[in-house]
Amino acid sequence: MYTRILTAVILTASFVAAASDLPTQTFATVVDKQGGIQLPKNFRQEWTHLGSWVVTDEKAPGHGFHDVYTQPEAARAFNQTGKFADGTVLVKEIRSIGAGALTTGQAQWATDPAVWFVMVKDSKARFDGPHWAEGWGWALYEAKDPTTNVSVSFEQTCQGCHLPAKDSDWVFLDGYPTLKR
Ligand code: HEC
Repeated sequence: MYTRILTAVILTASFVAAASDLPTQTFATVVDKQGGIQLPKNFRQEWTHLGSWVVTDEKAPGHGFHDVYTQPEAARAFNQTGKFADGTVLVKEIRSIGAGALTTGQAQWATDPAVWFVMVKDSKARFDGPHWAEGWGWALYEAKDPTTNVSVSFEQTCQGCHLPAKDSDWVFLDGYPTLKR
């Protein structure tokens, strides 16, 4: 009994430490001193997959497979608190759709990356400027040049489409079973 309580205390303590490391990590690697946002590296291999969306209509703005990732500590913090911790980074990778008849049936799968959308939680309002608003940094990268943020501004490139998710901190939570509490 006591061992179980002790284990729970230790696990909670180590988890709290990990979540509190997020701001230091994020604002040293993904965000520079001026508030410039970079596309995180190796998120597919090292981060937690939150969920997937697929938009099959070729004429739709979001045509493709959408896979969303965050840092493992950020997912755990959300599971505990229901909030995105300071320093949380969300990456949405959109890939083209491949299709064909497989032994499973008529299948569709993700092929080459096309674009990446990135949101960075900044609960302390560290930055202002066009890419920082509503407690997040907002950025967009294209596969042809993953080092350049091509979003004009939160207001022009992101806000209109994200308004339906305003009440859940601008994130479309329904698609993320990993964040279910
Ligand atoms: C055409 C509408 C549209 C535009 C423009 C748009 N988004 Fe989104 N975004 C969505 C929708 C809808 C989802 C969830 C469903 C999906 O991906 O189909 C989403 C999901 C995301 C996600 C995954 C986390 C979440 O909120 O669910 C990130 C990260 C994201 N968007 C960032 C951005 C950023 C940054 C911009 C501006 C540079 C932007 N989006 C512009 C509609 C849009």
